[in-house]
Amino acid sequence: MTRRRTIDDMNLRDKRVFMRVDFNVPIQGGQVTDDTRIRAALPSIRKVLDQGGRLILASHLGRPKDQPDPQFSLKPTADRLANILGCPVIMASDCIGTAVTRQVEQMRAGDILMLENLRFHPGEKKNDPGFSHELASIADAYINDAFGTCHRAHASIVGVPEQIPDSGAGYLLGREIEYLETVVHNPERPFYTILGGAKVSSKLGVIGNLFSKVDGFLIGGAMAFTFLKALGNDVGGSLVEDDLLGTALDLLERANDEKKIFLLPSDVLAAEYPDSGVPVKMYPVESIPSNMKGYDIGPETVSRFIQHIQSARTILWNGPMGIFELDEFAGGTVRLAQALAASTAVSIVGGGDSVSAINKAGVADRITHISTGGGASLEYLEGKELPGVTVLPLID
Ligand code: 3PG
Repeated sequence: MTRRRTIDDMNLRDKRVFMRVDFNVPIQGGQVTDDTRIRAALPSIRKVLDQGGRLILASHLGRPKDQPDPQFSLKPTADRLANILGCPVIMASDCIGTAVTRQVEQMRAGDILMLENLRFHPGEKKNDPGFSHELASIADAYINDAFGTCHRAHASIVGVPEQIPDSGAGYLLGREIEYLETVVHNPERPFYTILGGAKVSSKLGVIGNLFSKVDGFLIGGAMAFTFLKALGNDVGGSLVEDDLLGTALDLLERANDEKKIFLLPSDVLAAEYPDSGVPVKMYPVESIPSNMKGYDIGPETVSRFIQHIQSARTILWNGPMGIFELDEFAGGTVRLAQALAASTAVSIVGGGDSVSAINKAGVADRITHISTGGGASLEYLEGKELPGVTVLPLID
């Protein structure tokens, strides 16, 4: 059976190894405030160093405007990595150019060089062949361990491996694909998908692709109000995508026809506006006053959802149940996260907000797999091919 080439299929001794990582991490005051993505790349980083490779790390950070901008420098990530590994990580002043080429020439086995933000050059996002060629010219081998960026057909994700035949997937990328593939193709049943977040429009692709695969959906977050309104409920001032009421009704009918569970909130915690200290009140979903907006699922909904979480064998979660950043509206999300942690099901959480919610609930170590990629995991679950994966060589 063919499979994608991986780091384990490569001999990296003395090679200049270009490793694309996703160090697009939050930074405040020059310090990395969440190093999850850096730590997730450690197994591949250590493998290259143990094999005696010369490691060249490349990443983007944020969305700079195609030119150098100190606030988007990757230096804090290099410092954090050096700290974790207990060895120097040399920071380059750019990702291409003669100074970088010279720095690479001076590298010895086991050295680490962190290139500066790839998005300081317009060629990165345009997948410009000249830019890819410049990046590829400093390396003998290429590893992609940047799952979170694999949905972007950018130079460092697609153009560079096209020019370096000795390429493969790192451990982080391999693990992400393995878990997502299990969910999509071979889930233990019952398999429920919990979806939340503000907009149903951003989840339609996932619902469509997973419909035939799940035993049910548990829907929370503001996206639930579009379904609730489509069913004729008076959802007050809650967020509704009116142009999708018909689509929502079609999905509910399809769930009914195909005998799929499609759970919606039965009660919500509402307020006039989302703020800390704001007066909050519980309402059944059929009678939310017009001046009130739902910002979290209520206790009855939480209990109904938890019953399904307890009976599940596989659970996929994307999107919070409410505005969990505010303590007033964090209860639903946190209680579901705790139930997920307590369950014996395979649990997979994707999406930046959901991951923050899991961290807020303090249960990250009891989730089977937390994806490092928000947009990338969503696109994979929508059934789209990830350019960063399909570009890697297939082997028998
Ligand atoms: C992410 O954080 O989702 C990835 O690093 C991709 O970043 P982007 O959305 O700016 O391409």
